Amino acid sequence: MSTSADTAHRKNASDSEDADPGPGGFIILFFIIGLSAAWIGGWVIFPKVLYSKKEQPVQFNHLIHNPLVKNGCESCHFFREDGSFAGVAKLAQCVSGCHEEVQGIDPQEAVFVNEYVAKNREVPWLIYARQPDNVFFSHAAHVKLAKMECVTCHGYIEQSESLKTYEENRVTGYSRDIWGRNLSGLALNSWDRMKMDDCARCHAEKTARKSSVQTEKEACFVCHK
Ligand code: HEC
Ligand code: HEC
Ligand code: HEC
Ligand code: HEC
Repeated sequence: MSTSADTAHRKNASDSEDADPGPGGFIILFFIIGLSAAWIGGWVIFPKVLYSKKEQPVQFNHLIHNPLVKNGCESCHFFREDGSFAGVAKLAQCVSGCHEEVQGIDPQEAVFVNEYVAKNREVPWLIYARQPDNVFFSHAAHVKLAKMECVTCHGYIEQSESLKTYEENRVTGYSRDIWGRNLSGLALNSWDRMKMDDCARCHAEKTARKSSVQTEKEACFVCHK
């Protein structure tokens, strides 16, 4: 059965190479449209909805600083006398000898000096590697005892000229770096994500050699407070 409009359409269509796709063609077309919509929703829109983006309060350039400081990374990220890790440099370290006054011409430097140094306010840095509060992590155990390098868990952040945008999972409040950027869960590098399984996998590998008696799973309290 065909209407006159339909025949007109067929006439036009016959001019071009591909004629009426027929019902099978439409099904495939709708399938592709549906699939694309799901794909765009899942891979493009979903992460945008799930993660809220936050810029760091001040920009920071590791490449510029590394050759200027005396003790390399430890000038800023050092272990205290008691073995605990100081984390990110505190304001006092940045100020002493260097940032009492604006250095250079970078506008971010002026923001840093005027908003934080002059007002004696600590910079509220957003920590990409931050784990939830119930997780216990010790840098001393990994860096000092196990002699691991920073790059194993953090990647090459020290070779960066700027700090990337921080992304916070709206549901869990986690940093995106914990579950990883790749939605399929694929991790090519050891620093692509740092979920419980990632910690546990390395512990299983590293401790297997140490003891012949191996428990299936490490005691939860090793990593949980
Ligand atoms: C002059 C001080 C300074 C020096 C030197 C320095 N850093 Fe940093 N580092 C910072 C600041 C400031 C940040 C920004 C904090 C943040 O990530 O929110 C940072 C961030 C980091 C982070 C990210 C922490 C996180 O999860 O947010 C890592 C890892 C790091 N630095 C490693 C290194 C390594 C490795 C070196 C030596 C090659 C180094 N840094 C040298 C100041 C310094
Ligand atoms: C075994 C993995 C691992 C290694 C190796 C490692 N880190 Fe971390 N780092 C972490 C984790 C996990 C956190 C988050 C800790 C938390 O939330 O309590 C972190 C947090 C940090 C922070 C932010 C701390 C804060 O709260 O201010 C800095 C800075 C940092 N690491 C620098 C380094 C540097 C420099 C090295 C090398 C000397 C290093 N890390 C080695 C896993 C690692
Ligand atoms: C790439 C390997 C690796 C990764 C990733 C790793 N660890 Fe470890 N961790 C070790 C090794 C090796 C030790 C043992 C250090 C030692 O005692 O010699 C250790 C020790 C520890 C300890 C101290 C245990 C004790 O008996 O005192 C804690 C706590 C810990 N890890 C928590 C974590 C957490 C939480 C994560 C994930 C955020 C993590 N680790 C990721 C290798 C790793
Ligand atoms: C090797 C370290 C490690 C061990 C051992 C470990 N966990 Fe975890 N766990 C983590 C880390 C890191 C996270 C946060 C990242 C994530 O959610 O994967 C976490 C997250 C969790 C969460 C989700 C909490 C939240 O705030 O979302 C639960 C529940 C949990 N662990 C239970 C356990 C139990 C039960 C055990 C013992 C069988 C255990 N864990 C052993 C490292 C560990």
